[in-house]
Amino acid sequence: MACSCGNAEENQEQYLAPLYDVLAGYECKEKDLIPVLQDAQEEYGYLPQDVLQEIAKGLGVPFSQVYGVVTFYSQFHLEPRGENIIRICMGTACHVRGGDKVLDKMKEELGVDDGETTEDLKFTLESVACIGACGLAPVIMVNDNTHGLLTPEKVPEVLDQYRD
Ligand code: FES
Repeated sequence: MACSCGNAEENQEQYLAPLYDVLAGYECKEKDLIPVLQDAQEEYGYLPQDVLQEIAKGLGVPFSQVYGVVTFYSQFHLEPRGENIIRICMGTACHVRGGDKVLDKMKEELGVDDGETTEDLKFTLESVACIGACGLAPVIMVNDNTHGLLTPEKVPEVLDQYRD
């Protein structure tokens, strides 16, 4: 059987090409770490380990520092994210009006836990603090859309709007 090392290297080069483009736009100093991470996440949708390693190398900073920044800021993600981000409000108004039951139904419908992404990468489910629409409690946001006055019964109907 022919050795596939060459192919693997080529694939890796191709995979990292968008990152090299990002790095080319910076001076590649330590101060560039956060904007480079933001741009890389924009490219890949999340921050895979090998991308983080390349960023550490490119900026000349220790990997532990890069990893520390990524895990400190909630804007950065180490796992792939869904095409649709569902944010379920767990603020007080939503909680007292049954937000937890809506969350349970979402988990059941999607087969994921809070903070997880479905296997088909369609949905990421996240509980969040008050999103400022308490009058519509219990409320969720799917991407930029607000869905209010929810009940567990309405959950499948809302999800269907985002399924192809
Ligand atoms: S508590 Fe849910 S929107 Fe304010």
